Amino acid sequence: MEKYVIIGGNRLSGKVRLSGGKNAVLTILPACLMSKGVCTLYDVPRLSDVFVMIEVLERLGAKVEFYGNKMTVDASQIVSIEVSEHLTRMMRASNLVMGPILSRFREVKVAYPGGCSIGSRPMDQHLRGMKALGAHVTERYGYIEAQATKLAGAEICLDFPSVGATENLMMTATLADGVTILRNAAREPEIVDLQCFLNNMGARIKGAGTDVIKIDGVKELNSAEHSIIPDRVEAGTFIIIAALTKGDVVIENIIPEHLEAVIAKVREAGVEILELNNNLRVTCRKQIRGVDIKTMPFPGFPTDMQAQLMAMLAVSEGTGVITETIFENRYKHVDEFRRMGADIRVEGHVAIVKGVKKLSGAYVEASDLRAGAALVTAGLIAEGVSVIGNLQHIDRGYEGLESKLRDLGADIIRVEDINGK
Ligand code: EPZ
Repeated sequence: MEKYVIIGGNRLSGKVRLSGGKNAVLTILPACLMSKGVCTLYDVPRLSDVFVMIEVLERLGAKVEFYGNKMTVDASQIVSIEVSEHLTRMMRASNLVMGPILSRFREVKVAYPGGCSIGSRPMDQHLRGMKALGAHVTERYGYIEAQATKLAGAEICLDFPSVGATENLMMTATLADGVTILRNAAREPEIVDLQCFLNNMGARIKGAGTDVIKIDGVKELNSAEHSIIPDRVEAGTFIIIAALTKGDVVIENIIPEHLEAVIAKVREAGVEILELNNNLRVTCRKQIRGVDIKTMPFPGFPTDMQAQLMAMLAVSEGTGVITETIFENRYKHVDEFRRMGADIRVEGHVAIVKGVKKLSGAYVEASDLRAGAALVTAGLIAEGVSVIGNLQHIDRGYEGLESKLRDLGADIIRVEDINGK
């Protein structure tokens, strides 16, 4: 298994360009299945999750070509409507092929994606919406099956703004007969990007980015070209890395309004962030102050930045309180931070982080991709050497992380573990 070895203490400076967004491409790739033609995507990040999604599409019969960050998807010859457990267990987001396959072929069979280290992650909101659109849904033998002789537009109100359910139901309703109104919809930028792509293919959707989305069903979708929006979580991660290393970093290809809550909170902690068109310049010459955050659906503070902010609080002056409201089990990184000398107490959904002067390097393991990024952040500022295991989590969501960090002056290398564990 590969590991990062990091020698902490370097100030990072220079320019870093964000990759295309993991969570944007993981819903746009399944959407390509709805087109009878060939779709061309630009700024596609080379991430392990993207390669898993390519395998899902190819198993269904799509032809995918991926060179550099350009991808073409030919979904003219889909030969299957089933996604196996092997794939859905590898990546929960493979459940996002349900809406596209159901809407185009009126039937779909997907192995239950199951939970992961951050929570059980059920799909009740997805299935309730598909039933409202006319699908007959059964859950048995570890599979979810949905069939519909007819999909008809409906009024659907989500119990809470689930990102995946909003995406799956937008795609299901796109080829249904009539108008669907999706209320209490998620407002994440990835949903706006999906609406833009679907409309490029000939869909008639409006309202993405608000909590009410109107989908006017159409008969079929055509080819389209699309550039994936930049990764807002990668952006937030580099903001915190630049701040904690007391560096001076320009982050390029950023859309600041995609992470206003993160920018506001980091500024509140004392970090200077200058917006220059679609670049941010991050510097920090003062001692960072402890701040409180509560993770919320967009536009609130994103749960995907919770671990990275904890790394910042771990070395802030004073105490910060984190309340995680989105996932029921997203504090697995706390034990790893403690190995590095952090002073953190968890009580249910709340983590109380008391800043310490310095973290010390240690051997730590990533439990999920955002925890991994947060541990890298901690290693960059810790005293001495840190070794970070379970890199497969980080490779899911950060394209070329070590080379981007080395270009900014970090002392980080990726090594193969000699005894292969
Ligand atoms: C998306 O997951 C993202 N993944 C997650 O990013 C992100 O953390 C999450 O949205 C919240 O912003 C992708 O876009 C591929 P949800 P998703 O449906 O769609 C519960 C990362 O690190 N829920 O908004 O699965 C669910 O268990 C990943 O990049 C139900 O109970 O998130 C969770 O507690 C991690 N029933 C909460 O809602 C449902 O039917 C939010 O889930 C659906 C979800």
